[in-house]
Amino acid sequence: EKKDGDSTEKMQQICDLLRNTADYYDWVGFYFKNGDKRELKLGPYAGEPTDHTIIPFGKGICGQVAESNQNFVVPDVSAQDNYIACSLTVKSEIVVPLFKNGENIGQIDIDSNTPDPFTEADERFLEFVNQKVAEIL
Ligand code: SME
Repeated sequence: EKKDGDSTEKMQQICDLLRNTADYYDWVGFYFKNGDKRELKLGPYAGEPTDHTIIPFGKGICGQVAESNQNFVVPDVSAQDNYIACSLTVKSEIVVPLFKNGENIGQIDIDSNTPDPFTEADERFLEFVNQKVAEIL
């Protein structure tokens, strides 16, 4: 896939819009497979800067989704042993893989400062967002 300036700008707008629209979306970002490496690289995001710009496959919620190809809803991050903390204020997280031509090429990651806010409606909505993003990649 190609992430030209146009698609990067559009993903940035999506991150900003989502973060500003849902009061429990406190950090919204895209991670993508980093070339041929078994790691994720941070793409556009909205919210506090994170130190975790590279995440190896298998590490944290994001790295697990890179391998499982499944949505991962975490109602309480403190109950997860394989979790990478980006901010002490984060209580919950949702990660939804992004497929292009059937291949898991990345994900959308949302952190929330609210405990257990994510429903199946969030999953369906974020799957839809990722489908639309895949079309511009
Ligand atoms: N919490 C994630 C790391 C990414 S930050 O939330 C931005 C994880 O456990 O993979």
